Amino acid sequence: MSPQPRKILLGVTGGIAAYKSPDLVRRLMEHGAEVQVVMSRGAQQFVTALTFQAVSGRSVRTDLWDEAAEAAMGHIELARWADEIVVAPATAEFIARLAHGFADDLLATVCLATTARITLAPAMNRQMWANAATQANVQILKDRGVRMLGPASGEQACGEVGVGRMLEPTQIADEIFTTRGAAGPLHGLKVVVTAGPTREAIDPVRFISNRSSGKMGYAVAQAAREAGAEVVLISGPVQIPTPRGVERVEVESAEEMLEAVRRNLVGGDIFISAAAVSDYRAHQVAGEKIKKTSDTMNLSLARAPDVLATISRCESPPFLVGFAAETEHVERNALAKLTGKNLDMIAANKVGAGLGFDKDENALTVYWPNGGKRELAFTSKLALARQLVEVIAERYQASNKTRTFTAKSKSPAHAS
Ligand SMILES: Cc1cc2nc3c(=O)[nH]c(=O)nc-3n(C[C@H](O)[C@H](O)[C@H](O)COP(=O)(O)O)c2cc1C
Repeated sequence: MSPQPRKILLGVTGGIAAYKSPDLVRRLMEHGAEVQVVMSRGAQQFVTALTFQAVSGRSVRTDLWDEAAEAAMGHIELARWADEIVVAPATAEFIARLAHGFADDLLATVCLATTARITLAPAMNRQMWANAATQANVQILKDRGVRMLGPASGEQACGEVGVGRMLEPTQIADEIFTTRGAAGPLHGLKVVVTAGPTREAIDPVRFISNRSSGKMGYAVAQAAREAGAEVVLISGPVQIPTPRGVERVEVESAEEMLEAVRRNLVGGDIFISAAAVSDYRAHQVAGEKIKKTSDTMNLSLARAPDVLATISRCESPPFLVGFAAETEHVERNALAKLTGKNLDMIAANKVGAGLGFDKDENALTVYWPNGGKRELAFTSKLALARQLVEVIAERYQASNKTRTFTAKSKSPAHAS
């Protein structure tokens, strides 16, 4: 593990969630960090500097025009001092000013003058968050490597319900201290992971599915996030909480999964296909519930889209990692899939007879082209996922792939 940030400059801006920021100071200090608070003018309308001074044990900086501090170029000193700058809450206005390079108060100036990682925890009314101007500003900052934590969805101070709540202080502190961020081997990369089963409708009340629990895919998404990647998790129907810092997109059918993967892989670097995508779907989905009119019935099936194979046939596929869950001939089947789908890596395991699906532990054998192989011994799925992500990062670096996915097809999307 890389060194964790010890010196955190906590910027507080003028949102109602500022009342939670003194608690955040405590949480960060519980992780052993020194915390220097810098408040915007707006923030001082909500909480006093004295409160932050009392909890942080350091005098709070509020003013760019502080003669004593600026005698020694205090704003540059602060910018150099910090291992990480965390702004929580980050208002829509602060996000806008940072996106456009304003240096009109102490906090904005320090953010421009620093080389430390900047993390924002946005908090605002849901309409302010959804506003195209805010979204464009957030995108500018993300593209520059600024990390966004949240916002979460829920009840807001204004009485509305939606996306815009600041993450809880414990979540922010945990995220800062559990992910390796800039030091992680996947830092700066966008990773898309699929997980869980798909459901293929037969009629309005029935579907074809499989026993995938989604546990392995969720663990991989968490491990990739911990390794510093931006992670989008495209999930079939499962009852598992979303790993912290991971964006989750919910789908049902193989068709929907393919569309979500195509959309979210744009600009992506690595695609990890851990979902158990149905191979077949009903040839025709009945419009009404099918009645039991005879003792037997035949269901005509058609091939469902092969998500991984379709992506691998695109013009500039990202680094592709497949999973092979097999009940027999694991190695032979995995290698056939590796070459057949033109993958960069495949993680294979035996399923059935108490192994694999819905278990909390597993073992994997990882293969890559030209005879590469690594055994990952039986352990918890999260420990396994962390080891797998290390191997993915190694192979990704070795592959010299800097392909950015554009979703252009070389051949029809639905061939299998
Ligand atoms: C009661 C009240 C609550 C506010 N809450 C928020 C908020 O949660 N998020 C936000 O972006 N702006 C909020 N604002 C607006 C900001 O305070 C305003 O845009 C201010 O100029 C932000 O400046 P600063 O980011 O430099 O602190 C609120 C304003 C008031 C009066």
